[in-house]
Amino acid sequence: MVLQVRVTLCLGGSILALEKLDVGCIKEVAQTVHTLKSQKHDVLVVTGGGGPAREYIKAAQALGVSSTQLDKIGIDITRLHARMVILAIGDIAEPDPPTMVEVAVRIALKNKVPVMGGTSPGQTTDAVAAMLATASRSELLVFFSDVGGVYTADPKLDVAAKKIETMTSRELVERFASTKPEPGIKTIIDPIAAKLIERSKIKTLVMGAHEIKRLPEILRGANHSGTTIIPVSE
Ligand code: UTP
Repeated sequence: MVLQVRVTLCLGGSILALEKLDVGCIKEVAQTVHTLKSQKHDVLVVTGGGGPAREYIKAAQALGVSSTQLDKIGIDITRLHARMVILAIGDIAEPDPPTMVEVAVRIALKNKVPVMGGTSPGQTTDAVAAMLATASRSELLVFFSDVGGVYTADPKLDVAAKKIETMTSRELVERFASTKPEPGIKTIIDPIAAKLIERSKIKTLVMGAHEIKRLPEILRGANHSGTTIIPVSE
C-alpha cells in the first residue's frame, strides 16, 4: 500500500457503545488517529449510535412516531458519540461534528480531522462513511464492528457462520441485498453502503475493535483478521 493514504474510518456503534459508551475504545481511537496523522495520513471519522441509539429509538417507538422521527433520534445519538470522539482526539479534530459530508471533506482538506455521525433518515452511518470515503477520494474505507468482519450468515444467529477473508464488492452487495434499512437495524454493512462501496470502487476493510491500535501497521501492509472487500472493475 502507498506510504500516505486518505482513510475514512467508520466506528460502528457496536464497538463505541454496544450497550453503553466504551471510553477505553474512544481513547484507543483517539490515540490511533494521532499516530496516523503524525505519519501524514489523512483521517476522516464516522461514529455509530449502538445500544444507546437503539434504546432511544425503542422508547420513541412506544410514542408511536414515524420512522423518520425514529431515524432522527438515531442520528442525534450518533452525533453525540462523534462529539465524545472529538473531545478525546483534541485539537487536531474539528470542534463540532459536521452534519454534511461535503463540509467534512472541506475540514479534511484543511488538515483537520472531521468526526461526524449520521446525516439523513433512511440509512445508517455505514452509508455516511461510504459517501464520505467517496466524496473525500479516500484510498481506503475501514469499518470497525463487534463481529470483526463479514460472515457467510449472521454470526449472532447462526453458529455455522464463517468469517469471509476476501470478497468482491459485488459479493458484498449480494450478501446484504435483502437487509431492510429500518430504524435501529443491526447489520454489519447496510445495503445502501454496500452499493456505494461497489460503485465507488474503494478498497474496504471490515475489522474488529482489537485492530484499531494496529491500523498504522495494517496501512503499511500487515495482515489483519477481518474481511477485505476488493473493488471489481466493469
Ligand atoms: P448507526 O449507523 O449508528 O447504526 O445508526 P448502528 O447499528 O449503531 O451502527 P453499526 O451497525 O454498529 O455500525 C443508528 C440509527 O440511526 C439512524 C438509523 O435509524 C440507524 O439505524 N440513522 C443513522 C439515520 O437515519 N441516518 C443516518 O445517516 C445515520
